[in-house]
Parts: sequence; C-alpha cells; structure tokens
Amino acid sequence: MIGGRRVEISQVSVTMTVNGTTITRSVEPRTLLVHFLRDEAGLTGTHVGCDTSQCGACTVLLNGDAVKSCTVLAVQANGAEVVTIEGLEQEVLHPVQQGFWEKHGLQCGFCTPGAMLTASYLLSTNPHPSETDIRDALDGLLCRCTGYETIVRSVQRAQEIMDERQTEERETKIG
Ligand code: FES
Ligand code: FES
Repeated sequence: MIGGRRVEISQVSVTMTVNGTTITRSVEPRTLLVHFLRDEAGLTGTHVGCDTSQCGACTVLLNGDAVKSCTVLAVQANGAEVVTIEGLEQEVLHPVQQGFWEKHGLQCGFCTPGAMLTASYLLSTNPHPSETDIRDALDGLLCRCTGYETIVRSVQRAQEIMDERQTEERETKIG
C-alpha cells in the first residue's frame, strides 16, 4: 500500500533452461534467481545461507559460469542455461560428487551444493588446479563444519577421477 492505495506489482515472464528442462514463469521483476529456482522450479538443493553475497551456498552455474544466485535477478537469467546441484549427476555420480563422497567433503551439507558447483566450475576451466588454485576458488564459500581441508582434498580427488574417466574413455574407443 502506498498513500492508502494498493499498488499492483507487475509480473514479467521469465524463461530459462534449468538442468536441461525449459521452464517459464511469471514473477515479480525483483525476484532473485535463487528464489526462482527454489520457489518456482522447486529445486530446493540451492540453499540460501545469507542473502548478502557472503556464503556461496546459493552458487549455481549460469551459462557455464559459477554465480551466487542471490546476487542475480531471475530476469537477468532470462534465456539462460542454469545448472543446479540437482543437475550435476548424469548417469553416474559427477566426479565432484564422487570426490566429495570419497574424501568426506561435507558434514552438515548446507554449503555443499555451492561447494560442488564451485568445484565443478573450477575443474571445467582449470582441469589441473594447484592446491592454491582450489583454495582461491573456494574463497567465496563459507563452511562452518569442515575447516575446508576435506573440501580441498575432495576437489583434488574429483580432478583425479576426471582424469581416470577420460583415460578409460580413450581406452574404450581404442578398443
Ligand atoms: S545466500 Fe547467496 S551468497 Fe549466501
Ligand atoms: S558442511 Fe556444514 S557448512 Fe559446510
């Protein structure tokens, strides 16, 4: 209400492809991407830890880049390809998921979706990161449980798994 009058907030139509599925919803222009994903797409694996760009729990891939989805408006993602934690696994566990599982990269799991998508982005842009590269990439992620050591080891293991799978694939092709 403004000055005793009800103000109608106009809606905008937003279409994006999330984990390979195209969805269209009418939302208020101020709707954040993280709320679009959780409330409109029903993908609650993307967590809201702070809403102030600090924690990284809301990280998703937007056209291949890791972004904090609480800092992006849904309308800014109109026409984009988004990958959330629900979209990481294909036929088998994603190397990052496998790495986190093997090296115990999570405890409460609250930061884990953001940590995994950050790791996935890092490995897609830098397939052989040094430990410093990994720690730098995780800089925007807050984890209150692990002390980060097991997360770093998980990303290192994920990188090994990616290499192992590529080698297996090559050997299968050679036959
Ligand atoms: S909820 Fe987005 S950075 Fe914390
Ligand atoms: S595993 Fe609990 S916040 Fe990271």
